Amino acid sequence: MYVCVCQAVSDQDIRRAVARGARTFEDVQTCTGCTTSCGCCETEARELVDATLESERRAPALPVAA
Ligand code: FES
Repeated sequence: MYVCVCQAVSDQDIRRAVARGARTFEDVQTCTGCTTSCGCCETEARELVDATLESERRAPALPVAA
């Protein structure tokens, strides 16, 4: 499912960015380009980043292959 239609960033792309080391919303923005056009996806993207980071704190993800 696309979170950011403008940049074609999916929920999986955001989760993958966090799994690969993004630790803030701004990190995810830099990695994916999410929210960098119209910005209407920002609330949903921030919520997903926060939820993914919280989930990782509770159960760290296995390393992601390059
Ligand atoms: S939908 Fe994400 S920047 Fe437009």
